[in-house]
Amino acid sequence: MMRWTMGGLALLALSGCPGFGDKTLAELEGISDDVTYHADIRPILEARCFPCHTDPPKFGAPNPIANYDQAFGTSQRILVRAVQEGTMPPGGGVTGEEKALIEAWVSAGAPEGDPAAGPDMAIEPDMAEPDAGPDDLGVDMDPSVDMAPPAPPTWDDDVRPVMDMSCAFPGCHGGGMPSSNLDLTTYAGFIAGGFGGDLTGEGDPARSGFVDRLRARDGLPLMPQGGPSLDEDIIVMIETWIAAGFPEN
Ligand code: HEC
Repeated sequence: MMRWTMGGLALLALSGCPGFGDKTLAELEGISDDVTYHADIRPILEARCFPCHTDPPKFGAPNPIANYDQAFGTSQRILVRAVQEGTMPPGGGVTGEEKALIEAWVSAGAPEGDPAAGPDMAIEPDMAEPDAGPDDLGVDMDPSVDMAPPAPPTWDDDVRPVMDMSCAFPGCHGGGMPSSNLDLTTYAGFIAGGFGGDLTGEGDPARSGFVDRLRARDGLPLMPQGGPSLDEDIIVMIETWIAAGFPEN
């Protein structure tokens, strides 16, 4: 009787993972136990972390996570920041399935796998998750491309949702007569600025009038008016966006 199969052993190792009650995220998401860096994790890091954790790192990130050795060395912190705390990337965006993959990978000892394995190879048939949309990761999934160009935050995907929630409504920076003639309902409105003039700092967050208000710098009034200020994570995302040349999309 072959009761102790490799699969059984690996499952035992996984089930020892603390922090998520009885089931691991991988069990909840129905993910098999042989998750590897090249097949599963690198595409996630490319999409979610490379904008800042390149080598050398950018936008204030302290450490590169750009190859297997760096990801292996940081794997416990990747688990903490991207999965358990959910504080990386600063603007959020890691999906439940991606979190489950990261958790399963770290639990398994952060294995490298086959460098030639693409995300669609070396995966068991039951890994073909139907709920993973075709553009789920939003990156070039070809692992032979050493590093996809980093994808900075954009107005459409990242900044506008914040504006919609916190700034761009009637009576503030939206509606028919936006406050200070600054209309933050559209990208064009942001670029035009208001009575105070340019907000972009021409790509320098330290000189951006927009960031001045978000941080209430130089004695300028805090925006959103009356507070509370936006979360630090969000402000950092906006600074990253400005530094990247404030792309619309
Ligand atoms: C927009 C830029 C940006 C992106 C994208 C980003 N980070 Fe970070 N990261 C930072 C900054 C800034 C810091 C330093 C401040 C901090 O620790 O919060 C940091 C710090 C870290 C640290 C070191 C501090 C610690 O807690 O050990 C880890 C690990 C980390 N990030 C992991 C990730 C992972 C994993 C991803 C992708 C899922 C990611 N980051 C995406 C900007 C970014």
